[in-house]
Amino acid sequence: ELMHRELEALLATGNKAEAEISRKDFDGFKNLFHRFLRVKGPSVEWPKINRPPEEAIQPYEKIKAKGLPADIAASLNKLAVVKLNGGLGTSMGCKGPKSLISVRSENTFLDLTVQQIEHLNKTFNANVPLVLMNSFNTDEDTNKILQKYKHHRVNIHTFNQSRYPRINKESLLPVAKHLGMSGDNTDAWYPPGHGDIYASFHNSGLLDQLISEGKEYIFVSNIDNLGATVDLFILHHLMSQPADKRCEFIMEVTDKTRADVKGGTLIQYEDHLRLLEIAQVPKAHVDEFKSVTKFKIFNTNNLWISLPAIKRLQEQNQMDLEIIVNPKTLDGGLNVIQLETAVGAAIKSFKNAMGVNVPRSRFLPVKTSSDLLLVMSNLYSLDAGSLTMSKKREFPTTPHVKLGSSFTKVQEFLARFENIPEMLELDHLTVSGDVTFGKNVSLKGTVIIIANHGDRIDIPAGAMLENKIVSGNLRI
Ligand code: UTP
Repeated sequence: ELMHRELEALLATGNKAEAEISRKDFDGFKNLFHRFLRVKGPSVEWPKINRPPEEAIQPYEKIKAKGLPADIAASLNKLAVVKLNGGLGTSMGCKGPKSLISVRSENTFLDLTVQQIEHLNKTFNANVPLVLMNSFNTDEDTNKILQKYKHHRVNIHTFNQSRYPRINKESLLPVAKHLGMSGDNTDAWYPPGHGDIYASFHNSGLLDQLISEGKEYIFVSNIDNLGATVDLFILHHLMSQPADKRCEFIMEVTDKTRADVKGGTLIQYEDHLRLLEIAQVPKAHVDEFKSVTKFKIFNTNNLWISLPAIKRLQEQNQMDLEIIVNPKTLDGGLNVIQLETAVGAAIKSFKNAMGVNVPRSRFLPVKTSSDLLLVMSNLYSLDAGSLTMSKKREFPTTPHVKLGSSFTKVQEFLARFENIPEMLELDHLTVSGDVTFGKNVSLKGTVIIIANHGDRIDIPAGAMLENKIVSGNLRI
């Protein structure tokens, strides 16, 4: 009722465009909320879960063996790259969109993305556009920055995902008092997860526009995954399928290690490939879900999706994404829930969907300052916006890095390193407490540095730590 009243008021001000957006958001939310009220119990029955058949998840090597398109530019011209850009940098202690955090040599996630696509366009004389899915949290700041790329050889489009109301956990009523976002209404709204891409892309008109420009597929990925570059072999695989076997959806998955307990996995369920997220797993099976032996791969969220198929499924209202209920506690202590969906959950609705088991290098997310330390270091080299593991490292795996809470915020993290230590031969690094690193420190093997409460450890410039534990008042 409140929403209806607010919409009327907005229309009365003559702001039709804004009222139209709010109406679409409202319709979308109503739909999701009704589904939430209807659905009882878990979305999967555990005994019905099967391992996907072998041909459903193909090794990357097999895809690669099919070679490259004869006319690379022609294939690229049917592609658009979409980056999920609705998220903030809060978990890394930053204000504003996460994509605007500097991650390597003063370049932000967005800078690196633009460089990658520009390089592709220049190398192959192609026209791959970049599409950013923004949220109300990121749109304004992102658009300001986009000016900077005006003269780059990449067309950039943006569209906004929906804005839904958070609901009180007890009463199930929206906590919003009106459509505004300030005053008593801050925290009342949220972007409903990346699964929102299908409806918002369709509603924005951009989906139709790209189709009319001859685009056939989008390559979607998290903007914080630095490994998510356009892969020409997967593109060729998609383009070379016979029309009646057209694969409408590819999910890039990769082998799970014991550190990847959270990511969703692919299962066979009622004759379809499905994404199974930890939030859908009944409590009694959570350990089984996390095990590396039963569920061997996880979703990198690098997805290749057919544009006409999205259009068809949206128009026929056949995109049925499982609802993820995300509980939150607001600043004042109020318990709310937000209803979300995940982009990969749509895999079950597309024809001839498949997984491709890609090398780990295509999954290089920067979620924490520990990840940041790795991508800033000499373990990687940067070339035209892409990071590749240095050939000088003898083992193909990245070191395990665990930085303590004094490193969480990017600003604090940066202040603790005069420059990034050399770590080509590092296996494991744990740092905890008030620790700083001087210039040109080098770390090898397993290094553990623990400053107890009240102590501070300054690793001096030029120090070489190899298989060392530094703690308390111990000095090197
Ligand atoms: P997250 O950082 O929220 O997810 O977003 P995650 O922990 O990696 O795991 P998954 O992928 O959700 O399982 C991943 C990407 O999705 C965008 C973020 O900006 C980020 O690029 N995102 C997330 C949106 O664009 N909109 C949303 O509502 C949520």
